[in-house]
Amino acid sequence: MRDDARLRTAVASATARLADAGVPSPRVDAIALAEHALGVPQLILAVPPALPADFEARLDELVRRREAREPLQHIVGFAAFRRLSIRVGPGVFLPRPETEIVTQPAVDEARRLVADGREPLIVDLCSGSGVIGLSVVFEVPGSRVVGIDSDPTAVAVSQAAAVAAGSGAVRMEVGDVRDPGLLADVAGAVDVVISNPPYIPDDAVPLDPEVADHDPHGALFGGGADGLDLPRHVVAAAVRLLGPGGLFVMEHADVQGAAVRELLDRTGAFGPASTHQDLTGRDRFVTARRRSP
Ligand SMILES: C[S@@+](CC[C@H](N)C(=O)[O-])C[C@H]1O[C@@H](n2cnc3c(N)ncnc32)[C@H](O)[C@@H]1O
Repeated sequence: MRDDARLRTAVASATARLADAGVPSPRVDAIALAEHALGVPQLILAVPPALPADFEARLDELVRRREAREPLQHIVGFAAFRRLSIRVGPGVFLPRPETEIVTQPAVDEARRLVADGREPLIVDLCSGSGVIGLSVVFEVPGSRVVGIDSDPTAVAVSQAAAVAAGSGAVRMEVGDVRDPGLLADVAGAVDVVISNPPYIPDDAVPLDPEVADHDPHGALFGGGADGLDLPRHVVAAAVRLLGPGGLFVMEHADVQGAAVRELLDRTGAFGPASTHQDLTGRDRFVTARRRSP
């Protein structure tokens, strides 16, 4: 069989197996696994690379792992987020596509401030692998980022990613958003506080095996019946950290839009809060500006 026919047959068979295993995006994943098996960054099915003799066997091994619902990012070894590829492995929350959109207001604000001759300071709370903050410094040269996460494994991943991205304007540190003295050195001087905190309510157990079996428990559940205990601490930290006019951005669950706006209103520290939607049209994040104290 010719190489192009072999490749199409192998990808079609992998797609069918992944669909049977309940993988939500079987063809996209099958192509990503074929790319990984071949060591090529982008597989153009119309112009396939020369296939090694053991290609089908290599792909079969990778498909077996994905059929068992091991996350695609763990198998290929990296997660794509905006313009970055972050090396990720077990024990660290895998960045989600919806968070790419949540990051946009922070990038826009940083860009605006740099254009004004400033060196904006962005704080990424619950930073995990660091993708939000790293995206801002990567996309907006001249900005500075401090990332905080309570999990040392996640912080180590984000520090390694910062080194790989070659940015000296990044601090990734272990810290707890419940600590009222967190980042006291920059209190009142931060231009953007952005966060994708744990926010799932305790009784909303994730069903996808990739999430339930592989994302760290501490990255998922926000605490309390409404899942908003940790987000409440993030809001309190933002009140302390942001300077007047500073921008607050926080991701939340699709059912939490009104509750999160109310949370911000009750502090009396922010102007009007706006809820924004993700690409599926669901409420996904809030923005608000810090009033002058
Ligand atoms: C939903 S993940 C988000 C990670 C990353 N920001 C992203 O979008 O991919 C939430 C993160 O919050 C961290 N976390 C949980 N409790 C925390 C706390 N009390 N203080 C700081 N970080 C916390 C977890 O370790 C996890 O990395």
